[in-house]
Amino acid sequence: MNQDEWWREAVLYQIYPRSFADSDGDGVGDLSGITDRLDYLAALGADAIWLSPFYPSPLADFGYDVSDFVAVDPAFGTLDDFDELLRQAHARGIRVIVDLIMNHTSVEHPWFAESRSSLTNPKRDWYIWASPGAGGGPPNNWLSAFERCGPAWSHDEATGQCYLHSFTPGQPDLNWRNPEVRAAMRKVWHFWLDRGVDGFRVDVAHRLMKDAELRDNIPELAHARRHVTHPLGRQRHLDLPETLDVLRDLRRTLDAYPGTFALGEVPISDDRRLAEYFGGDGMHTAFHIAFWEQPWRAAAFRETVDRLAGLARPGALPTYALATHDISRTVTRYGGGARPRVAATMMLTLRGIPCVYYGEEIGMADAPPPVEQRLDVDGRDGTRVPMQWDETGLGFTRGTPWLPPGDDRREANVARQMADPGSLLGLYRRLISLRHASAALRRGDQRSLETGEDVFAYVRSCPGERLLIALNFASRATSVDLAGLPGLPGDGRLELSTDADRRTGTPVDLRPLTLAADEGVIVRIGDHP
Ligand code: NOJ
Repeated sequence: MNQDEWWREAVLYQIYPRSFADSDGDGVGDLSGITDRLDYLAALGADAIWLSPFYPSPLADFGYDVSDFVAVDPAFGTLDDFDELLRQAHARGIRVIVDLIMNHTSVEHPWFAESRSSLTNPKRDWYIWASPGAGGGPPNNWLSAFERCGPAWSHDEATGQCYLHSFTPGQPDLNWRNPEVRAAMRKVWHFWLDRGVDGFRVDVAHRLMKDAELRDNIPELAHARRHVTHPLGRQRHLDLPETLDVLRDLRRTLDAYPGTFALGEVPISDDRRLAEYFGGDGMHTAFHIAFWEQPWRAAAFRETVDRLAGLARPGALPTYALATHDISRTVTRYGGGARPRVAATMMLTLRGIPCVYYGEEIGMADAPPPVEQRLDVDGRDGTRVPMQWDETGLGFTRGTPWLPPGDDRREANVARQMADPGSLLGLYRRLISLRHASAALRRGDQRSLETGEDVFAYVRSCPGERLLIALNFASRATSVDLAGLPGLPGDGRLELSTDADRRTGTPVDLRPLTLAADEGVIVRIGDHP
C-alpha cells in the first residue's frame, strides 16, 4: 500500500469529545481525557480517530455552531492540549481527523457579527441575506433541517433583512459564492493541516452551495427538510453541482499534505448523487448513509451495499458506520443480544472504511435523558451520553456528567467487557485484529452471494486469500446453499463466529452452510479457484 493512502485500510473511531473522558472533573469530556485513553484505542485497533467539534461554540447545535474555527473551546482544553493529543496519538500510530464545518458558523462568530451590523459592511455578503417575503414572512420556502426550527430564515432587527440558516437560527449559512469566504476557509484548512492533522470529516458537504437567485423549491419539494428526489426536479438549497468545485478545491489543498484525506458527510438519499461526491477529484470517501437506515433484514443490507458499490467510481471506498452522534445506536435500533455482534461483523468485513462510534464496541444503548434535562434541538441527546468506562460512571468523570449516563452501564462497560474475551468488546477487538491481518479484508474485492432473505453472505478475496462472510439475520437456524460460488471447496476453516464458543480453526461444512440463529461467521475458503 502507498503509505499516503493509509486511510483505505484503516479502522476509524468517532469520538464525541464532550462524552468520551473528562480529565478535570467538570462533567464535560475534554481533549486531555482523550489523550489519557489512547492506549485503550490502540488496544482496540483504531487506526484513526475522528473528533467531533471541540471549537468554541455557544452550543446552539452542540459544537456544530462554531464561533472560532481555529481555537479550542475552554471546556475541552487548549491548543496545547490538542497538540499533545496529536503527538501522543501519532506516537501510537493513531491518526487524527477533525470536523470541518464549512456550511455555517455560529451567530457569535465575529464574521457574522460584522455581517449583520449593516447593509454595507464589507462582510455583509459573507452570509446569505434577503429581504423578507410577502407579508414580512421568509424570503422563500426553504426549510431548516430541524423540524423544531421551522423555516430556514430568521429576521434580523438590525437591518430588517433575513439570513439563511439550514440548521438552527444560531447557525447562519456562509455564502460560498463569495471568494473571500473561500479564502477565509482555506486558511482554516491550512491552520489544522499545518498543526499536523491527518484529515477532515466534512460536515454536510452537499449543502455548501445554494441557488444563486434563492428561488423557491418546487411545491412538490417544499415540505422536504433533508435531501429527497422527485421526478419533477431538484431541490434548490442543497446538492447543487457547484458544491463539487468547493470540494475539489479542498482536495487540491489536501494533496499538498500527503497522507491526509477527507471523509464526507453527505446525507443524500440518491446513491447515484452520493457516488459523485467521493473517490474522484473531490473527497476521498463519504459515509454510506443508507447503510445505517436499513431495517434488520439481510436482503436490505445486501441491496444497499451492492447498489452504492455498483455506482461508485472504480476503486472508491464508502465509509460504513452503524451509529453516530446523530443516529441512534445499534442496540437501540436493532435490539441487544446477538444482533450487535452480527452488525459489527458486517461493518468490519465489508469493502469500505469502517467507523466505530464510541461506545458501540461495548453495546451502549441510547439513553434519552428525562424531558427536563434534554438539551439538543433535534432530540439526539440519547446517543451522546458519556462513555461507560465502568459500572460506576467514575471512569468518565469524578464530577456530575453533563448528560445522565445510561442505565445499561452494569453490562455495557469497558472494565467488565475487557475482562471477558466473549464480550462484544472482545468481538470488536478480534474483528479488528483479523481485519488488520487479512489482505482480503483490508483491500480485497467483494462479491455478494445469492443467499435469500435471511442471510447476507459475501466473499472477500485477493490473490492468495479468500474469506466467506455469512450473516444470519434471522432468529432461527438457517442453511444456505452456496453452490453458485465458483471453485467452492466442500468445507472451509472457521476464522471467527459471533458465537464466542465456536473455536477458530474448526472445519465448516459449506454444502450447505448452516448458521445458528443470529450468527455471523467468517470462513477461510482458501485461495482463488
Ligand atoms: C451534521 C452534524 O453531524 C450534525 O450533528 C449537525 O447538527 C449538522 N451537521 C449541522 O452542522
